[in-house]
Amino acid sequence: MPRLAVLGYPVGHSRSPVMQSAALAELGLGDEWSYEAIEVAPDAFEQRVRAMAGEGFAGANVTVPHKGAALALADELSETAREIGAANTLVFTHNGESGEAEEAVIRAENTDAEGLLRALPGPSRDRRALVLGAGGAARAVVWALLREGAEVEVWNRTELRSRHLCEELGGAPVAAPDQSAYELIVNTTAVGLAGEDPFAELPLSQDGFAPEQTVVDMVYGGEPTALLRAAEAAGASTVDGIEILVQQGALSLEIWTGRPAPLDTMRAAARG
Ligand code: ATR
Repeated sequence: MPRLAVLGYPVGHSRSPVMQSAALAELGLGDEWSYEAIEVAPDAFEQRVRAMAGEGFAGANVTVPHKGAALALADELSETAREIGAANTLVFTHNGESGEAEEAVIRAENTDAEGLLRALPGPSRDRRALVLGAGGAARAVVWALLREGAEVEVWNRTELRSRHLCEELGGAPVAAPDQSAYELIVNTTAVGLAGEDPFAELPLSQDGFAPEQTVVDMVYGGEPTALLRAAEAAGASTVDGIEILVQQGALSLEIWTGRPAPLDTMRAAARG
């Protein structure tokens, strides 16, 4: 009975268990596979992950704040995870007959980057993109957009972090972005999660969006964020955090099960 889980701190808000359980059921794997949420504090993370390998886990999703730690403890890294410097997906492979913990190889992957690209309505090549934020989520977004050939600028509240991110991954830091100059704007910051006003905290104005733009907000909740409502009102295309969650989760599920993920089922379950 292969087990799967999402590891986070906190993790209670995660839509992954309901989304992945619906997907497993749709694939006819619901009686064999399970997917649960495991809350684990940073100082217990490594020990917990190593124990999971001996407890029948085939893999895990990893969310805030563990994506860097997941990369650090893995035996093998995908090239994407290594370059981004973060992993959102772990795979446990058991080589021995007995499935002992010490025989499991832990592999780290990153499906956040490809998930973002799949969620976008069109190709990003030569598009001018503004990424807001410089944390782990921003790193995956910047890496993905640069790989696609977009021209990427990065704004962050703490400028030093955006400078460091661009030195490592590419792209150019920007202190005062001109909102009208971008075809794609991606919010990777936590702004909006606790009801903050994005137009007070981010370098964007509510009436500054245009119809030819695509606006992505990785913050997800029950309803469209203030950022996406303003973008929609201006006629821009929008992508919300749930769609990105669905796409990254679908890629993780395909890695674990080797089966094509049922996207519509996952989308419906995640939207609840
Ligand atoms: P994640 O891995 O989800 O990206 P993170 O590394 O904690 O999480 O990054 C959070 C991002 O949200 C950062 O870019 C942070 O800006 P700072 O680097 O200046 O802290 C951004 N952020 C959080 N609250 C913010 C706010 N009120 N205004 C602007 N940016 C904010």
